[in-house]
Amino acid sequence: MTYTAPRGTRDILPEETPLWQFVEQKAREVFQLYNFHEIRTPIFEHTELFQRGIGADTDIIAKEMYTFQDRKGRSLTLRPEGTAAVVRAYLESNRHKQEPLSKLWYQGAMFRYERPQAGRYRQFYQIGCEVFGRGGAYQDAEVIATAQQLFAAAGLQNLEVQVNSVGCPVCRPRLKEKIQSFLGANLAQLCGDCRTRFGSNPLRVLDCKNPRCNEFLVGLPDLTDALCADCRTHFQSVHDYLDALQLKFQVNPRLVRGLDYYTKTVFEVLSGQLGAQNAVCGGGRYDNLVEELGGPALPAVGFAFGLERAVMLLQGQGAAVPGTLPYIFLLPLGAQADAQAVLLTAQLRRAGVPTEIDLADRGLAAKLKTASKLQARYVYIIGDNELHEKCGQLKDMRSGGQEKIGLAELAEIVAAKHREKN
Ligand code: HAM
Repeated sequence: MTYTAPRGTRDILPEETPLWQFVEQKAREVFQLYNFHEIRTPIFEHTELFQRGIGADTDIIAKEMYTFQDRKGRSLTLRPEGTAAVVRAYLESNRHKQEPLSKLWYQGAMFRYERPQAGRYRQFYQIGCEVFGRGGAYQDAEVIATAQQLFAAAGLQNLEVQVNSVGCPVCRPRLKEKIQSFLGANLAQLCGDCRTRFGSNPLRVLDCKNPRCNEFLVGLPDLTDALCADCRTHFQSVHDYLDALQLKFQVNPRLVRGLDYYTKTVFEVLSGQLGAQNAVCGGGRYDNLVEELGGPALPAVGFAFGLERAVMLLQGQGAAVPGTLPYIFLLPLGAQADAQAVLLTAQLRRAGVPTEIDLADRGLAAKLKTASKLQARYVYIIGDNELHEKCGQLKDMRSGGQEKIGLAELAEIVAAKHREKN
């Protein structure tokens, strides 16, 4: 019997991890530039947190959560996203009472019971950020700029930033009414999901992937006309700040998000290279969620991007980041040499040199073959003869050149070569 990874999950194998680490590193660097601080929250939370935070009508709450009971009968859920959990942690740690502005970033596995396909998994990884305490349009633009700088730093090409406003509780009813009255005559023709959404959350109809439903949306009047004065001014200021930051973006009046907490600005970063799952990143403002989750009325804005999708894009562009290889491979030949090599291996690693050792009882040719397969830069061969002279042969695997180096000097000499290379 052999086992496979559960449907919708995958292993990230060592050939791929360097690219993941590269993106993670770029994210860390860019978040630092924008004064974000890392937060780590649990992988599971009380189910109510997500029910309350994400919205009962969303796909996530209706059908995608990994919910289970623990041994005491508490309902827990593997986090489907990071925002609700970060708000919870922000409030629980009383940061809202201590700092007027909090900028938090996070990374980790998220879980959604979705139909798996290219770029869509049931366990996937997000990197995201949330800003608490600033309601002005500048912060929306800055958050979009953070995402944009991060993708540029990682070398992701041909991305498009789309922005829209989904209004606030004052004007949202008007937006909904506009959609309902436009679509009403064709309600019976819409897909089952859209018919349900039509009553509860008609904005989500704009996001339907069913081409037939999209046809009924042709000619839908511009919804920004239905925004209240405050939301309209805010949206215009976001445009102005994005222009001032020299950020390219498109207004997409159909852009809505799959989570219910958004107010005013929403945005996505899209790529034409990803097929159906074309969103690398999504986010927006959510000025009512902190209060909704038991805190004060504090504005917030943030985004998250999917690491699988970012890495897929980089791979599609032919990007490759080499992983670490052993810099030196120690090849002792015989019991006495083995003991010396064990000591030397420890010394080299302490000196910061990536080192591997081959203690197998076999000949030099076989050991050299392994070292070359593992792409070691140098090998150090210790045979019985050399041992008498307290030295070994350092072989440059690229040039094939060989020199005699004392056991006592090896670590220092190789560490110096390694430092030079880096
Ligand atoms: P979201 O749009 O649901 O937003 O997810 C953000 C990103 O996570 C997506 O653009 C996509 O790249 C990735 N993603 C989502 N689902 C999957 C999946 N099943 N497989 C692979 N990748 C996926 C949020 O999660 C919000 N919490 C973002 C946010 C933060 N808004 C404000 N602050």
